[in-house]
Amino acid sequence: MIEQSLVLIKPEAVSRGLIGEIVGRFEARQFRIVAMKMQTLSRDVAETHYGEHKGKSFFEGLVTYIISGSVVALVVESPEVVSMIRLMVGATNSAVALPGTIRGDLAQSIAENVIHASDSPESAQREIKLFFS
Ligand code: CMP
Repeated sequence: MIEQSLVLIKPEAVSRGLIGEIVGRFEARQFRIVAMKMQTLSRDVAETHYGEHKGKSFFEGLVTYIISGSVVALVVESPEVVSMIRLMVGATNSAVALPGTIRGDLAQSIAENVIHASDSPESAQREIKLFFS
């Protein structure tokens, strides 16, 4: 079934010049990039996006970090794209992300882990509305 995923290329990846490297990996898998927008997130949007982590010890740092610079939001479309992208992205903690995954190859820490990708088709639709409304 054709699905969409929301991908966010995070501030440190944008400032390190990794946009092309990351988008290229999706294009190489023949995923369709159907929308792409560079933006600096407001605190409101960031807190809504990461709402499920509210109350956790890292929440404040996560929000401060994600609004600290430009991000690139992408809508990527393909059959089974949510699970395929999650495999390509790798584990949240870069210390255990496998080589060959985006985080395993490019990320330096759990907090600055290069990329976010939707965890379900339902989350994807909610996140697409948030970043592209
Ligand atoms: P992401 O896929 O964007 O979803 C939630 C984010 O919270 C996650 O990537 C990490 O960047 C961040 N995160 C999760 N756990 C921790 C943690 N223990 N310490 C700091 N940041 C975390």
